[in-house]
Amino acid sequence: MGNIRLGQWLYALVGVLLLVKTQGIDVGITYVQNAVAKGAVCLDGSPPAYHFDKGFGAGINNWLVHIEGGGWCNNVTTCLARKNTRLGSSKQMATEVVFSGILSSLQKFNPDFYNWNRIKVRYCDGASFTGDVEAVNPTTNLHFRGARVFVAIIEDLLAKGLKNAENAMLSGCSAGGLTSILHCDNFRALVPMGTKVKCLSDAGYFINTKDVSGALHIEGFYNEVVTTHGSAKNLPLSCTSNKRPGLCFFPQNMAQQIRTPLFIVNAAYDSWQIKNILAPGVADPHGIWHNCKLDITKCSSTQIQTMQEFRLAFLSALTGLGTSSSRGMFINSCYAHCQTEMQETWLRADSPVLGGVTIAKAVGDWYYDRSPFQKIDCPYPCDKSCHNRIFDPNEHPLI
Ligand SMILES: *[C@@H]1O[C@H](CO)[C@@H](O)[C@H](O)[C@H]1NC(C)=O
Repeated sequence: MGNIRLGQWLYALVGVLLLVKTQGIDVGITYVQNAVAKGAVCLDGSPPAYHFDKGFGAGINNWLVHIEGGGWCNNVTTCLARKNTRLGSSKQMATEVVFSGILSSLQKFNPDFYNWNRIKVRYCDGASFTGDVEAVNPTTNLHFRGARVFVAIIEDLLAKGLKNAENAMLSGCSAGGLTSILHCDNFRALVPMGTKVKCLSDAGYFINTKDVSGALHIEGFYNEVVTTHGSAKNLPLSCTSNKRPGLCFFPQNMAQQIRTPLFIVNAAYDSWQIKNILAPGVADPHGIWHNCKLDITKCSSTQIQTMQEFRLAFLSALTGLGTSSSRGMFINSCYAHCQTEMQETWLRADSPVLGGVTIAKAVGDWYYDRSPFQKIDCPYPCDKSCHNRIFDPNEHPLI
């Protein structure tokens, strides 16, 4: 008896210690098997998947659908390389992921969304859920079906209770943050008329600007993504009706036309954008930017100057969001990428603030119409609340 009690007590203690360490809770995977018949599949033809933590208490009819990120694949070579990884196949995905930050179920870590139904949609199409090519090449067996996956997942969630939602928010980080802009109005249209719907994009405001060699690297890359995945017909029509489809992957060219309220959380020196848009490997053959990209404190004064110009280009692109009062923005001057999923940047005693307000509070106040939030930070290095990323030289994925 005593031993059993001790055992239970130790078990609980280990649970608490794990929770303290990760500041989150593991949530199991759900495979959307019935999506396969609709041709809504991952790159390798496997069923799409999500992780779902049920809402409770007053949050039982509130739904947060959060989209995972992970870059894009732009041609058959890079899509084949992705196909048998977790970003291309549900057979390769971890069966549990940690829910923290905006996905946390603990009130003190996530006061406005903790009791909502919280879903993390796994990213496995390589084009921010925009692709739709009917043909499957028998040699590569690559399926470009992201747009179908998006619809199939929302339909599955509607059947699980999203159809009764009072409140709903589409969110996502990085390539998933771009999804939440691109698909914001589609999401609005898929859920019931009476549901209050807003969208949040974290680190999804990728800008079209020249790299350090003067080339339009990201523009060419997005063009290839859109062509390879047959995305054009699934991008906002208000943009594709007057611009090349590849350009409609950039929020600056289509965000203004999104009718649903939209909040942008983005670092002005977004670390992914600095590494892959401003100074991608191909534009820096001698690796002059290598150490600076790993750690902003290692940048030379010339490099900081170049990054200040990048910030100005970012702020100029941000005007593409429009001036509607339904827009929210939290643009801090950090070297960061994705600040809503991690507890340390979403809400903690030392997490980033703008005007004294954390990201969690800014987003919560905006969603619930308690107060608008549209703030842009002073230039680096003025913000002392940043959690600037420092990357391990052995693992820094570059496109
Ligand atoms: C595919 O894209 C990658 C990354 O941009 C590039 O390095 C590679 O040359 C491309 N391959 C083909 C076959 O176009």
